Amino acid sequence: MQPTNTLRAIPTAARVHRFTYAIRNIVTEAQKVEAAGTRVRYLNIGDPVAFGFHTPPHLIAAVERAMRDGHNNYGPSPGIAPARQAVAAEYTRNGFPVAPDRVCITAGTSEGIELALSAIVDDGGEVLVPMPTYPLYTAVLAKLSARAKYYRLDPNHQWLPDLEHLKSLVTPETRALVVIDPNNPTGAVYPTDTRRALLAFAEDHGLVILADEVYGDLGFDGPVAPLGLLDPDAAIISFSSLSKAYLAPGWRTGWMAVGRSPRLDDVMAAVKKLADGRLCSTVPMQYAIAAALEGDKSHQVGFRKDLKARSDLTLSRLRAMPGVTCVEPTAAFYAMPRVALPPGRTDEEYVKALLHATGVLCVYGSGFGLPADQGFLRIVFLAPLDELREIYDLMASFTASYLRT
Ligand SMILES: Cc1ncc(COP(=O)(O)O)c(C=O)c1O
Repeated sequence: MQPTNTLRAIPTAARVHRFTYAIRNIVTEAQKVEAAGTRVRYLNIGDPVAFGFHTPPHLIAAVERAMRDGHNNYGPSPGIAPARQAVAAEYTRNGFPVAPDRVCITAGTSEGIELALSAIVDDGGEVLVPMPTYPLYTAVLAKLSARAKYYRLDPNHQWLPDLEHLKSLVTPETRALVVIDPNNPTGAVYPTDTRRALLAFAEDHGLVILADEVYGDLGFDGPVAPLGLLDPDAAIISFSSLSKAYLAPGWRTGWMAVGRSPRLDDVMAAVKKLADGRLCSTVPMQYAIAAALEGDKSHQVGFRKDLKARSDLTLSRLRAMPGVTCVEPTAAFYAMPRVALPPGRTDEEYVKALLHATGVLCVYGSGFGLPADQGFLRIVFLAPLDELREIYDLMASFTASYLRT
């Protein structure tokens, strides 16, 4: 007789139920629409390579060379020396002095964020996270049994942080402040006075700032300086990667830079200890870091210009739709419009209805932590201009009829 145990599904951990990631979750819905024969336009994931932008050839050459030269072994867990040196030199050039031994090379910004949060936050610890947020922060905090405390970004003030709200959220359990600047999902860049206010707030409360600067080179007016420029002695950990400005998201190659403040010495040691557990990040790709940061960056000039043109088109088309408003993005490739939903409707219903009717796939604002009745959604505007025009035509006629019903 067969033991009954073999018939039962193997149970999964409770943390999985707390872990959500709307940017990818919505794809299941899109696949159903595709299976029914509708062409889906994927505007959910911020991957420039998927939209025809090319990884610079000198980065590919550096990785190829590394493989041919036999760098296919495990590497040091915080990263190979030339990569750590290149990252430290880049921050130092940009006004945030960082030593190579304060750099850890990671599997993208994502792994850096996970390592830092794991090193800093205990069960039940609280982290101040922007609302809307890039959802990885809340997903990782859920995994750690820690709590995200959302501070509002204000769409009536260019999506800048609401400092009074932020101040009201601090408790003895607060461990860190997440600052995403330039921002995903809003496309905002914070002015200097806002940055100074965030630094002063963190300093007053003894908090470390987790500065997500993965879009730092993609300000439409040129690169945005790291937050650490304003106070190199502040407790700041900065994160970035080759994914966005260097057009190599699939390489999963990034870094974290820990500020020189001695208050961060224990955190640095903790990060290195945790990094030992995953052995190292992908070694051949690490050889592209020095090539990227010290080599030709001219591709970024054209990329920023292309992004600005797409942003301008997006903004003018969205603002021309009755019932739709949108703050002007100033960096990256995201816009966060708001649709004035009829009472009782949610952002997710609107986004799914748009998907089913037109094949256009965006992510609903509640996937980034916003209240579902506010009607926000995020658009990735990386598609070519002609395709974006078609997409906004579809969206305009769908939205007009959705808001009439
Ligand atoms: C704000 C932000 N942080 C981190 C990431 C993750 O990037 P990476 O590919 O470097 O892990 C993204 C990706 O979209 C992002 O938008």
